[in-house]
Amino acid sequence: MCGIVGAVAERNVVNILLEGLKRLEYRGYDSAGVALVNGNELSIIRRTGKVSALAEAVEQSKSTGLDKGTTGIAHTRWATHGGVTEANAHPHASQDRFAVVHNGIIENHKPLRAALTEKGFNFVSDTDTEVIAHSIASYMQDGGDLFNAVQQAAASFEGAYGTVVLDKTTPDKLVVARSGSPLVIGLGIGENFLASDQMALLPVTRRFIFLEEGDVAQITRTSVEIVDANGEKVEREIIESNVEHDAGDKGGYRHYMLKEIYEQPHVLRNALKGRITSDGLVDGIFGANNAKSADEIFSQTQYVKIIACGTSYHAGVTAKYWLEQYAGVQCDVEIASEFRYRKSFVPKNSLLVTISQSGETADTLAALKLAKESGYMSSLSICNVDGSSLVRESALSFLTRAGAEIGVASTKAFTTQLAALLMLTLAIGKHNGMSAETADDIVSALISLPAKLEETLGLADEIDELAEEFSDKHHSLFLGRGDQYPIAMEGALKLKEISYIHAEAYASGELKHGPLALIDADMPVIVVAPNNELLEKLKSNVEEVRARGGLMYVFADKDAHFEDDDTMRVVNVPHCMESVAPIVYTIPLQLLSYYVALIKGTDVDQPRNLAKSVTVE
Ligand code: AGP
Repeated sequence: MCGIVGAVAERNVVNILLEGLKRLEYRGYDSAGVALVNGNELSIIRRTGKVSALAEAVEQSKSTGLDKGTTGIAHTRWATHGGVTEANAHPHASQDRFAVVHNGIIENHKPLRAALTEKGFNFVSDTDTEVIAHSIASYMQDGGDLFNAVQQAAASFEGAYGTVVLDKTTPDKLVVARSGSPLVIGLGIGENFLASDQMALLPVTRRFIFLEEGDVAQITRTSVEIVDANGEKVEREIIESNVEHDAGDKGGYRHYMLKEIYEQPHVLRNALKGRITSDGLVDGIFGANNAKSADEIFSQTQYVKIIACGTSYHAGVTAKYWLEQYAGVQCDVEIASEFRYRKSFVPKNSLLVTISQSGETADTLAALKLAKESGYMSSLSICNVDGSSLVRESALSFLTRAGAEIGVASTKAFTTQLAALLMLTLAIGKHNGMSAETADDIVSALISLPAKLEETLGLADEIDELAEEFSDKHHSLFLGRGDQYPIAMEGALKLKEISYIHAEAYASGELKHGPLALIDADMPVIVVAPNNELLEKLKSNVEEVRARGGLMYVFADKDAHFEDDDTMRVVNVPHCMESVAPIVYTIPLQLLSYYVALIKGTDVDQPRNLAKSVTVE
């Protein structure tokens, strides 16, 4: 989704800004732009398409000297209001003096636009962002300085924004405001930076201040002043980042997604390290909140509510099966965008669990905010990004340690979320009479998981070959039962995201209640079939498909005894323990979607219309 980078320095900042934008490319965008102040000269360059097109345009402007500036802001736009055009790309300007970049949506942009037009401001784009530029210009007409004008303007906005403002008449500073969309200040030596994601600034600094909701800050080369939502001056903690990521490094793989698929055994080892041993779960790994340890909270938990979006939601649905089956606690899972707009009942002693790779998903954050006001006993976030809004705003947090995930299609974040949720199952189950035998089984399944995933990755060539058969297909059906149903959902999501083939997932018991009507030879049916107690039921569903001429691709345990024939291609997945089977069976489905996308020639790491981190509603 949209990305922001800004810098105030003594040197020309254009390359810092462009490199920052490149590092944010993975988030998904459709146009890019930069505004630079050199002396008192403001130049704005914008292009639709990739950051490389913007970099080329900057290069071409060398002869005019407009490619330089000691202060600048830059942006990658993911269109919400107004089409993908140069006029709609950020930065937006007012009076050839103020330049603004913005992430989020100003929901009351229409009345603001009307009022500003009345005052004589001329709008040249279809965006909601342009009202920010003209609002600030309007407040500046009434006197005062840029900081006050941004504060006043921010007070008139409804919706979400992370915005940065530059005034060419005071070129030594940038003013930023945050409400709903993340912003981080990067501290340099004699220069300072800001961005919507620390990833953008890793080449220039590792020291960050994460702005909080309602903060407005002024940044110069040598100072950072922050005022909170109440207008009080505040000092925010400086955090030393240990994020490892070189955006330019695909580690020899053709795509980040493939690299991230292959990283899974390694990141799973990291996720388990220091948290689980052959003696069981290590005490205290879910932390504490003020006076109460996570363990005390879990001992009182009678109901778990999980909220997330997309792939993270699928992890939550898998966890529902685990928490109810192994930990004996009632659990419901809900999509964040649904939860946030309905009245829901909160049973006594309820624990809220949010799951997110980025920790910045707008709907999940809004759901957490709502839940905190609705009487949940405590909140736990399972998240991949330390210092993210979700982590900071939850009472307890558990980091998945998947490392930076660049591919828009989530892979290693998902499997580490599942490992985290299985550890949560152990932690809650301990208080609910989970038998020692079940606990030991889960512990040893988790310990052997990284090696099992390595073995499963050995299926890549076989799956690559099989993917050929999908290249001319337009639709597909994924089937699973029990805790493999959410894995089928995740497999379908992966395939549609990166290959653009329509894919639907069904709990296979639902087949005859409708989807069976779709079955013919043009509809590949993908089945996940570990050797569990539901196998015989699943086999009946497979026969229902076979009888209607459907073509099946079955990912199955060898002992499930499926065999290749005219109607069925079988891929034998290494035998694994039941509790971790959802994690193991995820791997072949990730590989399948990757190889199908490769054949279809789509943009695997940045699929069309999608963003990595969905920071608007
Ligand atoms: C997964 O492949 C997606 N691109 C998407 O569904 C993602 O999982 C969703 O947007 C939630 O993101 P989060 O985990 O960062 O909150």
